[in-house]
Amino acid sequence: MFSRQLNDRISIHLPHSHQATELFALTDQNRLFLRKWLPWLDRVVTVEDSRSFLTHSLQRFVAGDCLPVMIYGQNQLAGVAGYNLIDSTHGIGYIGYWLGESFNGHGIMTRVVQDLIEIGRDYYALQKVEIRCATKNGRSRAIPVRLGFSHEGTLRRAERVYEQWLDHEVYGLLLANSTCTTPPHPLDPDPDETTPRPDFPTLSSPTGMQ
Ligand SMILES: CC(C)(COP(=O)(O)OP(=O)(O)OC[C@H]1O[C@@H](n2cnc3c(N)ncnc32)[C@H](O)[C@@H]1OP(=O)(O)O)[C@@H](O)C(=O)NCCC(=O)NCCS
Repeated sequence: MFSRQLNDRISIHLPHSHQATELFALTDQNRLFLRKWLPWLDRVVTVEDSRSFLTHSLQRFVAGDCLPVMIYGQNQLAGVAGYNLIDSTHGIGYIGYWLGESFNGHGIMTRVVQDLIEIGRDYYALQKVEIRCATKNGRSRAIPVRLGFSHEGTLRRAERVYEQWLDHEVYGLLLANSTCTTPPHPLDPDPDETTPRPDFPTLSSPTGMQ
């Protein structure tokens, strides 16, 4: 089974359905903490729900659509992270994550995301990694900022979390192994242009309309 030891405390592992009981226990213990930012808590009410999540994630992993990882801190399940979506057409991976409350504040997720970026580049040939965080989720936003992602913009009402609409901040990191180049945008100034571009023609009133 795929696993990586990230330092003396933290390791990540491809999930297996036999971890459903452990995953459900961590989810259940942290229900209130996670509910603030994650929309799926009400759909995970039994061990079987956690098992379905693991089985479904593994099927998508085999199809190359996602990469889920279970995070262990000192041999205890601490949380889940991974590429929720791998868009192989465009070479973009979308990372998501959560930790149990007692595992917050130790740099675990920052280290895991750093490793996911390496995996994305080395095994999936990604040219870009994206993380979307709720605007008010300061702990989540701090992770891409810490890892040098650029803030690319705000998506309004990007997610419904129970009775609330949340805006998302989009963070992106471009990776070095891109095999195609970005063509210049038609509205960017041409660096080689010596003469100014002509002004756009002024629109006149269409005939028959005053
Ligand atoms: C988002 C979430 C994963 C962030 O967890 P976190 O513990 O703050 O993140 P990290 O594990 O990277 O730890 C960073 C913290 O450890 C500290 N830290 C200690 N050693 C560190 C190290 N070597 N490297 C980086 N940070 C370190 C940092 O200072 C920071 O603490 P601070 O915020 O008090 O300054 C967690 O709060 C969570 O699961 N929330 C609920 C679900 C959620 O919001 N998911 C994201 C949806 S977009």
